[in-house]
Amino acid sequence: MKKLMAANWKMYKTAGEARTTAASLAALTADTLPDDREVVIFPQFTALSPVADALRHAAGYSVGGQDVYPAAEGAYTGEISPGMLMDCGCAWVLTGHSERRHVIGESDELVGAKTAFSINAGLKVVLCIGETIEEREAGRLGEVLKRQLDTGLAGVKGDAVPAAIAVAYEPVWAIGTGKVAGPPEIVEAHALVRQLLVARYGQPGNAIRILYGGSVKPENAREIIALDNVDGVLVGGASLQADSFSRIILA
Ligand code: 13P
Repeated sequence: MKKLMAANWKMYKTAGEARTTAASLAALTADTLPDDREVVIFPQFTALSPVADALRHAAGYSVGGQDVYPAAEGAYTGEISPGMLMDCGCAWVLTGHSERRHVIGESDELVGAKTAFSINAGLKVVLCIGETIEEREAGRLGEVLKRQLDTGLAGVKGDAVPAAIAVAYEPVWAIGTGKVAGPPEIVEAHALVRQLLVARYGQPGNAIRILYGGSVKPENAREIIALDNVDGVLVGGASLQADSFSRIILA
């Protein structure tokens, strides 16, 4: 199973800046990318085509959208369809990122609809889940992860697993805060996610990649990637500079 090293560039970088960063990243890592690593960059929408273009000769690299709407086309002002993402060179999409759940107000059900529709349309999905600090302190970690996975994967059939889906565990309290979850917290949460995936899909649930996200940096990436059931990382702030993200990719 290849480790999935993913960069979420959030609402940063113009199209030109994103293209330059992607080109620098490819120059720093493309020749040295280990066989067991795969890289996905999630830039904002106007940067998708330029980034896909910059990475078209970089083996092991692909591009994804940060969001999607569950319809092929229609009167959905401001939204974008899976087909439109693929037309820009995307192979992947993120669903359920905590900023979409907690800042934009997306429901578990909408996240589930986006996930299933995107897979049926031919995209691979990184479904993001994770608890808030209040939920963790109230002892609700297991319940929250189960609810987000049950609803997020409700329409994802076993035959799409494991190729079309990865799950990113991103504790909300560790995102952009510099507070990385400690190894015991990561191992506990990833083991819970693994159990839930195997309960849902049987043996193929063991091959679904589970990524960790939340304050991953060049300094802590190697230790995190080596933990049980950590099959990659989803990186925000430390992925914005080519030098920093290249050190994470090669960690
Ligand atoms: P940071 O790496 O900036 O904490 O962000 C994590 C994240 O939200 C990735 O999706």
